[in-house]
Amino acid sequence: MKIAPSILSADFAALGEAVARVEAGGADQLHVDVMDGRFVPNITIGPPVIESIRKRTRLPLDVHLMIVEPERYIETFVRAGADLLTVHAEACPHLNRTLNQIKEAGAKAGVALNPSTPPAAIEWVLDDLDLILVMSVNPGFGGQSFISSSIAKVRQIKTLVGARPIDISVDGGVNRDKAGPLAQAGATILVAGSAVFGAQDPGQAVTHLRNASESSK
Ligand code: DX5
Ligand code: ZN
Repeated sequence: MKIAPSILSADFAALGEAVARVEAGGADQLHVDVMDGRFVPNITIGPPVIESIRKRTRLPLDVHLMIVEPERYIETFVRAGADLLTVHAEACPHLNRTLNQIKEAGAKAGVALNPSTPPAAIEWVLDDLDLILVMSVNPGFGGQSFISSSIAKVRQIKTLVGARPIDISVDGGVNRDKAGPLAQAGATILVAGSAVFGAQDPGQAVTHLRNASESSK
């Protein structure tokens, strides 16, 4: 199981320190939430902040674009340092084209599904994908409660993926209680914001999440 702390729940005025703590704690990648106030009702950060983070860590940057018309910004985010770019299926009328654009720009390509979007939305782009991001909250804010039907959705997606080398990541309300059931259902990456940065020791919280996901096997 890979653990991807979401910096949305970190103190933005002390981002460098927050990143260093989870890197030292064994995080596998860093999840960066980009919101535009249009696709979701919140505004966060953009390419300049990603560029600054890139200089402070060796961890892969997993950039989650919660924006409309993401195809307009793909090259900019890759240039800023994104290793993996995830777009929302709901924001991409030409998903196949957008995924190819991400790969041509030199990054890995992911698709996120809102809680109400069925797995069938990605059935015909599976061979273009490196990651599927199952949203277990309605995107827009950290600290929301996990939608429990997401576990069954992960199971369905795992069946759909079959033997393809695609990561299944789960994002929203993930904590130690959810880690075991998600691992069993087929998740390979856990994104966690408040469960990591809301903890006394964010580095240790990464270990706790990983242990919780592994003890269920
Ligand atoms: C929500 C974001 C998540 C968020 C997760 O729209 O995509 O990455 O930061 O935060 P928690 O783990 O607190 O739900
Ligand atoms: Zn996210």
